[in-house]
Amino acid sequence: MLSAYPELVEFLPCESPKAWVNWAIENQTLLLNDHAHCEKKAASTAMSLMYRYVDRDNLLHKMSRLAREELLHFEQVHKIMRKRGIAYEHLSASRYADGLRKHIRTHEPARLVDTLIIGAFVEARSCERFAALAPHLDEELSKFYLSLLKSEARHFEDYLALAQEYAGEPIHDRVAFFRELEHKLIIEPDAEFRIHSGPPVNV
Ligand SMILES: [Fe+2]
Ligand SMILES: [Fe+2]
Repeated sequence: MLSAYPELVEFLPCESPKAWVNWAIENQTLLLNDHAHCEKKAASTAMSLMYRYVDRDNLLHKMSRLAREELLHFEQVHKIMRKRGIAYEHLSASRYADGLRKHIRTHEPARLVDTLIIGAFVEARSCERFAALAPHLDEELSKFYLSLLKSEARHFEDYLALAQEYAGEPIHDRVAFFRELEHKLIIEPDAEFRIHSGPPVNV
């Protein structure tokens, strides 16, 4: 399924651990709950970039479109949750986003470039995980997750292209730096399941 997106596969350091995939299949209520949070957070991240960088024309255009799509995804997850009688509950954030964001440089345009590179990793990982889960889910969820691949892969491309545009220099080293961090965050065990967690502690 991901073979349609070779750049995305090459961008990520590794596939999701099988133990994470099994953990997700066993925790579908939590999976949908955290998925809803992730879509909402993705929209909010895009909007905060629009507030912070009002002079970046391409960013405004791409992030506005992205925010609308993420809110649409939120509505789709929420609709499935309501249909299944799953309550939407507050969840603590996984260590993934913070584990990446705490390394964002503080001066511009480095701050913007790092934020955009992290956006690319979040989108690429989400896309990889939806593809990994789809074959194991019921028909409705499987179809839904497959339908998300195309837009999440485009979000990955948009974030990466914006990072390249605004860096004004090659971003290869910075991407490699965050790739190594992402790898650790994805393979190190976690106590609680999340969309971006590592595998369970006791496996
Ligand atoms: Fe999304
Ligand atoms: Fe996305």
